[in-house]
Amino acid sequence: MGGGIIGVPAMNLKMSLLASIVFGVILIERALILPFLPSGLMLWGSIGVVLLLALTMLFLRSWKRLMISSFMFASILEALTGALQVALFILANQKLVILLSGITALLLGLSGYMLTLELGEEAAKGDPLRVTDSEYAVVVENVHKYYYVGTVTVHALRGISLKVRKGEFVAIMGPSGSGKSTLLNIIGALDRPTSGKVYIDGVDISKLDSDELAELRNRKIGFVFQSYNLINRTTVLRNIEMPAIVAGMSRKKRAEKAKQLLRIMGLDETALKRRPIHLSGGQQQRVAIARALMNNPTIILADEPTGNLDSKTGAEVMGYLRKLNKKLGVTIILVTHDRSVAEMADRILHIRDGVIVEEEIIGGRDEKKAG
Ligand SMILES: Nc1ncnc2c1ncn2[C@@H]1O[C@H](COP(=O)(O)OP(=O)(O)O)[C@@H](O)[C@H]1O
Ligand SMILES: [Mg+2]
Repeated sequence: MGGGIIGVPAMNLKMSLLASIVFGVILIERALILPFLPSGLMLWGSIGVVLLLALTMLFLRSWKRLMISSFMFASILEALTGALQVALFILANQKLVILLSGITALLLGLSGYMLTLELGEEAAKGDPLRVTDSEYAVVVENVHKYYYVGTVTVHALRGISLKVRKGEFVAIMGPSGSGKSTLLNIIGALDRPTSGKVYIDGVDISKLDSDELAELRNRKIGFVFQSYNLINRTTVLRNIEMPAIVAGMSRKKRAEKAKQLLRIMGLDETALKRRPIHLSGGQQQRVAIARALMNNPTIILADEPTGNLDSKTGAEVMGYLRKLNKKLGVTIILVTHDRSVAEMADRILHIRDGVIVEEEIIGGRDEKKAG
């Protein structure tokens, strides 16, 4: 992805060029006025600006937003100093240069501010957490995925397309090697398609940089795997809290949330202090689901979550997933090759050789062959 001139990827080039010019002229103007200002003011002003930028960086955790907000900050500062310089001129009634540079600063500051608003809007289009009015949680459009292993090329996905509505529970079935895990990893932004598009809540994720993808994965998507993927060195509590630690939630809040999720998943609080390895398979998978729910994701992606469980325990875990889907409205996409597991979903998509070959609507008894 090409970075814009002020470090904003996928941003309108004309816009960033304009911003750079305004910023450049402001810098030249500053350099010209420098000899007329008391040196102490400049020093403390600079220290203040650096501190403010550092704080903003901590708070925003994104270079892109830092660039935009510092540009806005500089513009406001510029307009204020411009006004001050004009006032100084009126009071002192001398030094024409103060008046001229004051007016320039004022104009530049104001135009810089207007530009920043445009830039912010431009950048928000790539914001992974942007709220859109898309009715679909997931849209996959003509996605191909090739793997190159030595001299061998594997065409894992062959122009696959699908749409999953918000709050829907979709099961994906298909033989081993048909591309189910590849598809799920691409939807979850763990992997990128070779070609084609993926939209999560209406946001085209190919437009996001790696920071934004990480944020999307952390805040919007919960993963559940066949092998639970829990960390056995540490406690159940710590495992569930993990995504919230990454997201920067306070210790107290995340412990409360972990307890609440554990209760929703039908486990009691004594499990919190234990190591995952000492729990049964079904309990471990419920801990993994609690962990996936920690940051209130809108989408849960589950890759054969019942694959290591006996059918009774599997049905129990499915019951919890169904409950989360119904009660919390979480969109669920689940891969399974167990027919009885798939039938608990709203819809079953059958995948073969990297494309969807059949769609079944459960409940409506409506069956449709895709061509
Ligand atoms: N990282 C990888 N490198 C090379 N080939 C891969 C990789 N991941 C998957 N494949 C191949 O892509 C095809 C689809 O795999 P996968 O998505 O795991 O299928 P499924 O989950 O349906 O069993 C298979 O032929 C598999 O061998
Ligand atoms: Mg798989």
